[in-house]
Amino acid sequence: MTNMTLPATKPANPNFSSGPCAKRPGWTPAALTDAPLGRSHRSKIGKAKLKEAIELTREVLEVPADYKIGIVPASDTGAVEMALWSLLGERPVDMVAWESFGSGWVSDVLKQLKLADARKIEADYGELPDLSSIDFDHDVVFTWNGTTSGVRVPSGDFIPADRKGLTICDATSAAFAQDLEFDKLDVVTYSWQKVLGGEAAHGVLILSPRAVERLESYTPAWPMPKIFRLTKGGKLIDGIFSGATINTPSMLCVEDYLDALGWAKELGGLKALIARADANTAAITTWAEKTQWVDFLAVDPATRSNTSVCLKIVDPEISALDADAQAAFAKAIVSFLDKEEVAFDIGAYRDAPSGLRIWCGATVETANVEALIPWLDYAFATQKAALASA
Ligand SMILES: Cc1ncc(COP(=O)(O)O)c(C=O)c1O
Repeated sequence: MTNMTLPATKPANPNFSSGPCAKRPGWTPAALTDAPLGRSHRSKIGKAKLKEAIELTREVLEVPADYKIGIVPASDTGAVEMALWSLLGERPVDMVAWESFGSGWVSDVLKQLKLADARKIEADYGELPDLSSIDFDHDVVFTWNGTTSGVRVPSGDFIPADRKGLTICDATSAAFAQDLEFDKLDVVTYSWQKVLGGEAAHGVLILSPRAVERLESYTPAWPMPKIFRLTKGGKLIDGIFSGATINTPSMLCVEDYLDALGWAKELGGLKALIARADANTAAITTWAEKTQWVDFLAVDPATRSNTSVCLKIVDPEISALDADAQAAFAKAIVSFLDKEEVAFDIGAYRDAPSGLRIWCGATVETANVEALIPWLDYAFATQKAALASA
């Protein structure tokens, strides 16, 4: 369908970026008033804030009581790298990837850690690899939700409860929007900047009892910089998991995370957050199913993300163009919507196939997704007309 009528209303909030993501509805800088600025993070109040952040994380994310939760440096990347460098090498590892971030972890393990006993299990954008080919006697590294392809694992069913290896899961664009099955996961990482709309620079590292056991029984052959060190004298540094961070965190960011967690708790916790992401994605799905020019990049509907919703342009005339012209067409839609202040940052990730990526995480209001949809049709129709007359 073409829509050449300028839509009457714009989304009240045009922030649809996949990270940093929209702040929670109603957020203003006043939410940060209680931040203990100018105080040591090791003061009583500083430590109390960090401890509260860990405790609220456990409550809202429904993390089992016997799992450790730590706030670590360098956002999600920092948390993942700490896990890879601290845990891997004890046994073979299966590296499972289907988009850019997962591929980044594959390349780290093969080219930087140089682990010889590493298998790659990969798929192209839009697909999941054959999960049944994973050997769970090995350690396994994977991304729960592939942010750059909008493909997620449908559940943790592919992971056996009695595995011998550890499962290390980058869950940054899944945490707080999808049901992470903690009994199937030994390491879970994420950043505050995603589903909760918090700030970047801090990561969260969650460890199962089996991951802690590995840390305390295995010492990697390579040197470990201070920023990655989770053990001392063969014992887990417990302080990291009670708020005594490795180095100095931003108490402003911590306050912002506490605000986001408070909002999430008030909403009804994890279930409510998941429901918001699902409702946002449902609005896109309803439209995409009746719209001929657009389709999900995720081939199997069961693997479609409810956060990083990736769409490709499948209009036959546009698909007939060469790859550069298709990318330019998608970019023209994105630039138009940006200029109109209808939607910011909705272009496909730089390494992904061209198209659109619309964040549908919990901080996005469904009314805003609904308001965006007629603009997508309008932008497509006007850009296509411009192309025809060029
Ligand atoms: C799946 C995934 N992993 C890792 C990252 C990197 O996260 P950060 O920049 O918070 O370190 C991202 C960021 O978008 C991501 O989507």
